[in-house]
Amino acid sequence: MDAIKLLKTDHKLVKELLTQLEETSERATKKRATLLHEIQVNLKAHTTIEEEIFYPAFKAAGRKDEAKMYFEALEEHRAAEDLVLPDLLNTDPGSVEFSGRAKVLKELIEHHADEEEKEMFKDAKELLSKEELAELGAQMEARKAEVIASFA
Ligand SMILES: [Fe+2]
Ligand SMILES: [Fe+2]
Repeated sequence: MDAIKLLKTDHKLVKELLTQLEETSERATKKRATLLHEIQVNLKAHTTIEEEIFYPAFKAAGRKDEAKMYFEALEEHRAAEDLVLPDLLNTDPGSVEFSGRAKVLKELIEHHADEEEKEMFKDAKELLSKEELAELGAQMEARKAEVIASFA
C-alpha cells in the first residue's frame, strides 16, 4: 500500500477507537481497558513507522518548512505518547477523571492527524514520487507488523 494511504487508514482506525472510548461510561471499565489497549498498540505502531520511516524521508525531501513540520509532529507524538497516554493508562477506568483524560487524548490525536493529512501528506505527495511512496509504504507495512507482534 502507498505510504500515505497506509497512514490515513491508520488515522481512521485510531480515531474510530478514540470515538468509541469517548462514548463509554464509567461503568464500562472492561470495555474501556480493552479499547485503550487497542489504541495503545495501534498508536505505537503508527508513530513508530512515521518516526522511523516516513518523517525522515519527508524531511530529507524538503527544506525549512518541512523540517519545521517534522519537529512539530514529533513534539505532538511526545505529548500524546509520553504524557497523556501514560496518565490515562494509570487512571481508574471507572472514574470521571478517565473520561476527561480520554477526551484530551482524542482531541490531541485528531488535531495531529488532521494537520498531517492537510499539510504534511499533501506536501509529501509533491515532494516524493509515486515509486518512493510505494517503497516507503512497503517498508512501513513490514515494520508495523513487527511492532504489533511485539505487543502479543
Ligand atoms: Fe504523526
Ligand atoms: Fe499520523
